[in-house]
Amino acid sequence: MSALLEVSGVSVTFDGFRAINNLSFNIGARELRAIIGPNGAGKTTFMDIVTGKTRPDQGSVTFGDRSISLLKLSEARIAQAGIGRKFQRPTVFEDQTVFDNLMMALKKPRSPFAVLFFRPSRPDAVRVQALAEEVGLGQHLARKSGELSHGQKQWLEIGMLLAQEPRLLLVDEPAAGMTLAEREHTTALLVEMAKTRAVVVVEHDMEFVRRLDCKVTVLHEGAVLAEGSLDHVTRNPAVIEVYLGRG
Ligand SMILES: Nc1ncnc2c1ncn2[C@@H]1O[C@H](COP(=O)(O)OP(=O)(O)O)[C@@H](O)[C@H]1O
Ligand SMILES: [Mg+2]
Repeated sequence: MSALLEVSGVSVTFDGFRAINNLSFNIGARELRAIIGPNGAGKTTFMDIVTGKTRPDQGSVTFGDRSISLLKLSEARIAQAGIGRKFQRPTVFEDQTVFDNLMMALKKPRSPFAVLFFRPSRPDAVRVQALAEEVGLGQHLARKSGELSHGQKQWLEIGMLLAQEPRLLLVDEPAAGMTLAEREHTTALLVEMAKTRAVVVVEHDMEFVRRLDCKVTVLHEGAVLAEGSLDHVTRNPAVIEVYLGRG
């Protein structure tokens, strides 16, 4: 499997504190990967680096078939290059319908002029319907997004990210605050999405990670502590030490 994202020797220091310490790892083109690790391990900082929000002091981050460096690109250019990020808090437009939220997210040139005179075309409407069905909201297109459950809002936001056709999707704690049924739907959704793109999930909930049934990277003190199946990494003495050996 050739790498889609390659992180190599990356370090970041905040006020003398090394949050990321010589971090290296790869994500394949159609791979589902879970990243776990204790609070402060550097999981969010890793996502900030890949999306251009934080610039590392050292190392390289390359993406795509031509291995372009992400470190020279703005956040907007990184998104255009095919990297989408799902934050913990859904940021859907609550007063708009599910249909309108998805329509606004479609990948198109969006000059103020284009938005002002925007009329949905039939292919766009078909695409919106398909996106809604993909995330399990096919029956909810006409509803105001503000009326959706917490889980449904998260799926809508995932649908809005999919509308941008990312090749890599970064998802921070998708299961937080969800009911069991919503978690199960989210698991299925992430597994399905990773069939056609790379999906990286940061998650604390071990049961959730278990159901993803994918390769796991354990971060600790800004570096990779262990990598492999969940069973493999949770048998690793260094991982046990980090999770159980404190306090
Ligand atoms: N902008 C920042 N300024 C200073 N310290 C930061 C900043 N962002 C993160 N850190 C520190 O870097 C470490 C890693 O943080 P983070 O990536 O948020 O960890 P995680 O997401 O794994 O809990 C923590 O010790 C955190 O306090
Ligand atoms: Mg975090």
